Amino acid sequence: MKNILITGGAGFIGSHVVRLFVTKYPQYKIVNLDALTYAGNLENLKDIDHSANYFFEKINLLDPDKLNEVFKKYQITDVIHLAAESHVDRSIVSPLDFVYTNIIGTVNLLNTARHAWKDNYSQHLFYHISTDEVYGALGETGLFTESTPYHPNSPYSASKASSDHFVRAYAETYHMHTVVSNCSNNYGPFHFPEKLIPLFINNIINKKPLPVYGDGLYTRDWLFVKDHALAIDLIFHEGKPDETYNIGGFNEWRNIDLVKLLCKLMDEKLGREMGESEQLITYVKDRPGHDRRYAIDATKINKELGWKPTVTFEEGLSQTIDWYLSNTEWLNNITSGAYEKYYNLMYTNR
Ligand code: NAD
Ligand code: TYD
Repeated sequence: MKNILITGGAGFIGSHVVRLFVTKYPQYKIVNLDALTYAGNLENLKDIDHSANYFFEKINLLDPDKLNEVFKKYQITDVIHLAAESHVDRSIVSPLDFVYTNIIGTVNLLNTARHAWKDNYSQHLFYHISTDEVYGALGETGLFTESTPYHPNSPYSASKASSDHFVRAYAETYHMHTVVSNCSNNYGPFHFPEKLIPLFINNIINKKPLPVYGDGLYTRDWLFVKDHALAIDLIFHEGKPDETYNIGGFNEWRNIDLVKLLCKLMDEKLGREMGESEQLITYVKDRPGHDRRYAIDATKINKELGWKPTVTFEEGLSQTIDWYLSNTEWLNNITSGAYEKYYNLMYTNR
C-alpha cells in the first residue's frame, strides 16, 4: 500500500504521471498537490478526477505548514516531485520566481518528508524530476551522461540544478532514500502553448508568425510525454535508491527542421496547400544565453531497467497535432487573457 504525493500534477508532465498512476495502480492513493499557477490546469485531469484513489490539494510549495498537514492527512509514503516553474524564457524575465518555487519549494518539501519519515527512511522514496538542461550546452558532438558535470546556463536550469543538489544532500546528510531523473524536452497533449511545439501548433492553426529564435540551428532531443511517464513509473518502482537516471528520446532535431516537419504535417491535416504554413516562419531575436544543443545518453536506464521510447517522433507529433486540433476549447481557454499579455511581452518587437 502506497500513498503517493505527486506535486505539479495539474501541469503538463505531471498530469500524464497522475493519470498513469491513478489508472494503473488502483491500490495506491494518489494525492496531487498543485498551486494551480498559470501552468496548472485541472481540466488536464477531468477524465480521472472522479477516481476513488485520486485526491487533489491546492497548495503552494512555499507553505510548509500546509505541506505538513497533507503529509499527516494522507499518511504520505512516497513523493514524486514535478512541481516547478518550467519555462526558460520566463526565467530570464523573472529569475526569483524560479528561486522560490524550484529551490525553496523543493527544500520545503524535502524538510517535510525528512520529519515525516524520520523513523524509517528506507521505507520511503523521494523521487525528484529534473531536466537535462542542468548539464549546460553541448557542441556538435557528444551526449549528456549521468556523470556529465553540471553547468547550468539559464536561471531555470540553475534553479533546477540547485534543487537536484539539495535532493542529493538530503540523501547524504539524513540518509533519506532519493532518486533523480534528468529528462530531455517533452512534447505531447496538454503542453502549455508557451513552449516551442504547442506554441507553433497554435500559431499555425491561427495563421500567426512562427518566431524561430536566432539562426534556428539549435538542437533538442525530443521525447513523447507518455514515454517519460512510463520511465518515471519504472524508476519509481525499480530504480536503485540514490541513483540518477537520464531519460531521452535518442531523437535530436534542429529547431528549423522540426518546425518545417510540423508545418508539413499541419498542412496535410488542415487540408492547406503544401508549403503554406512554412511561409509563416519568421526569424526573430535570439534568446539570451541560448543553449546550442542538448542530447541525452539514455543507455543506463535502457540497460538497467529495460526502458526505451515506445513512440516514434512522427507518430508522437502526429498524435499531438491531432490532440490539439480536437481540443480547441482547451487551447482557447488557455490562450486568452493573461496569455495574450505574456505573448505580447515576449514577442512584440523581438
Ligand atoms: P509545467 O509548467 O507544465 O507544470 C508545472 C506545475 O507545477 C503546474 O501545474 C504548476 O501549477 C505547478 N506549480 C508551479 N509552482 C508551484 C508551487 N510553488 N507550488 C505548487 N505547485 C506549483 O511543467 P512540466 O513541463 O510539466 O514540467 C514538470 C517537471 O518536469 C518540472 O520539474 C520540469 O523541470 C521537469 N522537466 C520538464 C521537461 C519538459 O520538457 N517540459 C523536461 C524535463 C524535465
Ligand atoms: P522550449 O520549448 O522553450 O524548450 P527549452 O528551451 O527548454 O529547450 O524551446 C525549444 C527550442 O525552441 C529552444 O531552442 C528555443 C526554441 N524556441 C524558438 O525558436 N521559438 C520560440 O518561440 C520558442 C518558445 C522556443
